[in-house]
Amino acid sequence: MAKNWKTKLIHSDAKIPAGFRSLAVGVQRASTVLFPNAASVKDDWDQYEVGYTYGLYGTPTTLELAARICELEGGFRTLITPGGQCAISLINLAFLKAGDRVLIPESVYTPNRKFAVNVLRRFGVDVGFYPPEAGAQIQSSFRPNTRVVWCESPGSITMEVQDVPAIAEVAHRAGAMVVMDNTWSAGVYFDAFAHGVDVTMQALTKYVGGHSDLLLGSITTRDDKAWRQLGATHQLVGCAASPDDCSLALRGLKTMAVRLKAIEDAAMTLALWLSERPEVERVLHPALATCPGHEFWTRDFEGSTGVFSIVFQPRFSKAQVQGFVDKLELFKIGYSWAGVTSLAVAYDFQAARGRPNYGHRIVRLNIGLEDVRDLQEDLSQALDALA
Ligand SMILES: Cc1ncc(COP(=O)(O)O)c(C=O)c1O
Repeated sequence: MAKNWKTKLIHSDAKIPAGFRSLAVGVQRASTVLFPNAASVKDDWDQYEVGYTYGLYGTPTTLELAARICELEGGFRTLITPGGQCAISLINLAFLKAGDRVLIPESVYTPNRKFAVNVLRRFGVDVGFYPPEAGAQIQSSFRPNTRVVWCESPGSITMEVQDVPAIAEVAHRAGAMVVMDNTWSAGVYFDAFAHGVDVTMQALTKYVGGHSDLLLGSITTRDDKAWRQLGATHQLVGCAASPDDCSLALRGLKTMAVRLKAIEDAAMTLALWLSERPEVERVLHPALATCPGHEFWTRDFEGSTGVFSIVFQPRFSKAQVQGFVDKLELFKIGYSWAGVTSLAVAYDFQAARGRPNYGHRIVRLNIGLEDVRDLQEDLSQALDALA
């Protein structure tokens, strides 16, 4: 039919060459997805079963990222979320109901704790916290209504490595599921499913993105049953990840092995060097014996990444510890980690429930891709200034 130019803006007959092939995954953005006929219209979230139905459930770009993460983690299916914290809250919403009990390690990423305390409790969920070192002793925190046990290993900032298989055994015996924040290991250095975990999440914001310029999360299930529960909840919560961000994450995956290797080597060099410095009481790096749960890291992990903490000697005041961070030149101050830029953040755990008594003396470092000698020199000048 003949078309007015205004109609052509929407329904074009313009032609381009076919046969384009590229190494990059194309970015496909969509809310509306077209159906071939009236009878085939359906709002079903499981596009693996019924084909594409709506942008909320992912375009081919989103699903490509999901499939790649799932392949790396060895799961059944993966869902991509707009950020790591969204993955955490979606897991809780999918697998808990009023009257259920959830157990969370005291060392967990703080917004995970806050979601439980501020939201789950409001909806009638019984929230309990357990020491990250509990292992099989987590049994004493169980009640008949315990349904979900969170693990995060190593823990945020205080870096306790958990005995995940021992926790999983107790949980499974009690009919509870184990969910895990596997962000530190980038989903590759700790095989969560082989160690008894049922559902994993990662902040892809960190090592998969790798360049501090996107926010994404993933949730991977071990089986179809958990996948159905998760997908049905995701449909109703309605949090869709941006295909543009997914394409950046897909690019990040291609270089992740070399980034991780360089970051692991530099972080180890600096952790060992820092453990010899007189200003430092303790280095909390999972690959060092001074880190709680180091034996589980040795047993269960295939590598380490670039985030670890140092605890200063008791003689240093809060102002001095903050002064150390401020004095650093290459290390920048800021949240989120796993990018190419080294970061340092001072924490004060004086009032934090369940955390070891490091008080104001703990600083978390994120090691980036700068030359390790320059990073050491930067740390050295900032430590020397403390004297
Ligand atoms: C261990 C851990 N899990 C989850 C998140 C949340 O990820 P996002 O910032 O993508 O929401 C973070 C972010 O710092 C984190 O450190």
